[in-house]
Amino acid sequence: MCGIVGYIGARKAQSVLLDCLGKLEYRGYDSCGIAVLNDGIEVRKDAVRVKALAKALAPLNGTTGIGHTRWATHGEPSKVNAHPQCDCTGRIAVVHNGVINNFQKLREQLAEEGHTLASQTDTEVIPHLIEKYYDGDFVKAVERALKDIEGSYTMIALMAGESRLVAARKDSPLIIGIGDRENFLASDVPALLDYTSRVIYLEDGDIAVVNAGGVRVKNNGSPIVREEHKILWSVEDAQKGGYEHFMLKEIHEQPRVIRDTLAEYIASAEPIADLTAAGGTGPEDLLILACGTSYHAGLVGKYIIEGLVKIPVRCEMADEFNYAGQVSARNKALVITQSGETTDALKAVKKLKEAGCEVIAITNVVGSTASRLADRTIYTRAGPEISVAATKTFLGQLIALYWLALPYARVDIRRLDELVRELRQLPVKVQQVLDNEAAIADIARQMAGYENIFFIGKGINYPVALEGALKLKEISYIHAEGYAAGELKHGPFALLGSRTPVVAVVAQDNTCEPVITSIKEIKARRSPVLVLMSEGDDDTAELADFVITVPQIDPLFSPVVNSVALQLLAYYVAKQRDCPIDFPRNLAKSVTVE
Ligand code: G6P
Repeated sequence: MCGIVGYIGARKAQSVLLDCLGKLEYRGYDSCGIAVLNDGIEVRKDAVRVKALAKALAPLNGTTGIGHTRWATHGEPSKVNAHPQCDCTGRIAVVHNGVINNFQKLREQLAEEGHTLASQTDTEVIPHLIEKYYDGDFVKAVERALKDIEGSYTMIALMAGESRLVAARKDSPLIIGIGDRENFLASDVPALLDYTSRVIYLEDGDIAVVNAGGVRVKNNGSPIVREEHKILWSVEDAQKGGYEHFMLKEIHEQPRVIRDTLAEYIASAEPIADLTAAGGTGPEDLLILACGTSYHAGLVGKYIIEGLVKIPVRCEMADEFNYAGQVSARNKALVITQSGETTDALKAVKKLKEAGCEVIAITNVVGSTASRLADRTIYTRAGPEISVAATKTFLGQLIALYWLALPYARVDIRRLDELVRELRQLPVKVQQVLDNEAAIADIARQMAGYENIFFIGKGINYPVALEGALKLKEISYIHAEGYAAGELKHGPFALLGSRTPVVAVVAQDNTCEPVITSIKEIKARRSPVLVLMSEGDDDTAELADFVITVPQIDPLFSPVVNSVALQLLAYYVAKQRDCPIDFPRNLAKSVTVE
């Protein structure tokens, strides 16, 4: 996490940097800062959000600079720990995204050599190392400094008297935006949409020297040409478009996301990826790996693929898999990561590839690291997702999983037709959920006073309960836990009572009866129950204290409409509690550290 930016050209760097940083706050926002080249280097930073820093700053004159918005790893959020970090002379400034594993040893060495390090950050060793190795050649000093560093060190360095930026990428993203006699650097595309649609994605190990007129990239000491890409996302995609929060806008974009994602898949005559096992037999078994919300999409995918294709599917959290997971070359693996940059997910891709396993990535970001490491990539067409809480990318992932499974479905042709027809109806059904927003908001206001809420679901809606709880806790700070309906009685029942409501997801399949039994058991323990169910199920509605209805739908697709309803519920609970919905405390959208 952390967002980094750089600018070199003819514009006032201060406003470009602050503008770009504002668009990277989803990566971290506990403090921020900029360094602008003037006669020397002027650093302005604080433990505040970008808007507050921008408001407090007097205009700076330079047209070259770097900036950072932080998600603390080493040292609390404070002015001294904010980036840019500088060397002893104040002539070298660095912004960094990553973790330097050997920073303690480097700090001690530097201190012995007479350097005074003021912050608790790992980053601060970088400008001091550059200072140590500088003998008149800025680029060489950066290259030499990086040789001492172990860990991940995507960074940009600025030096007084140098009309160039030196950037390096290792283990977290960095792109160069190409302009007309000006160039930009940023962690991610949305930061640059206002300025250019031409970008270069740097690869691990790249060191780039960027000046206003051009870019030179080296890898392993040798010059290398990195292809330029055209970005298709528009400026409007990354703006709020009249909504109060990005999250609400992104929830409302979901009918469009389903249409765009499906349109692309339908246009291709081939299955979007080959699930055939190594050795040429039909699909045999599949491993799905992901983190956070993408992991929940993976769990829904397990039910989709097991249900349709009738093969065993393992879905694991990427981080757990990285430490203990077993894999063979015969496995096929799906790695789901909306950003394509999550460290735990990328480590899983590397482990899978080392084991000889074929990897299919599902991601929303063209050119992301996951897409470059995987054997095949399936893109979701959600457009940029700015709100930290994932919504539309989750739905895009579900659509990809349905479309992936359908060509291999072991069902008769009539059922297949039915499924494809229902899939194409999804934008309309999701719109119907959105049209019920006022009723959901009303219930949300009544739920907002509780401090503990359970979510239950069964079968394909069990992951929906997990995701519903995750959404609620991350943006409203209410303690929420998702459970398989049948598991609640094995412990969590001890916590039930009138101050602990339960949200029960009821689907019209073989899970309906057992979930209703769970609801009755919960009611007997006096917990208020909010039932999320299909329209017209009056018997179930009678059991509930609160009811949210969704349109009738084939149970296989019920996670789509149910998830949208729970996103709205979380949103309006958080709004009622006056939470900073798009930027919840302590979180970041793209977690590029372990
Ligand atoms: C972070 C975000 C989550 C996201 C998870 C995985 O924790 O806050 O919303 O689900 O990372 O991200 P990915 O980009 O790999 O899907």
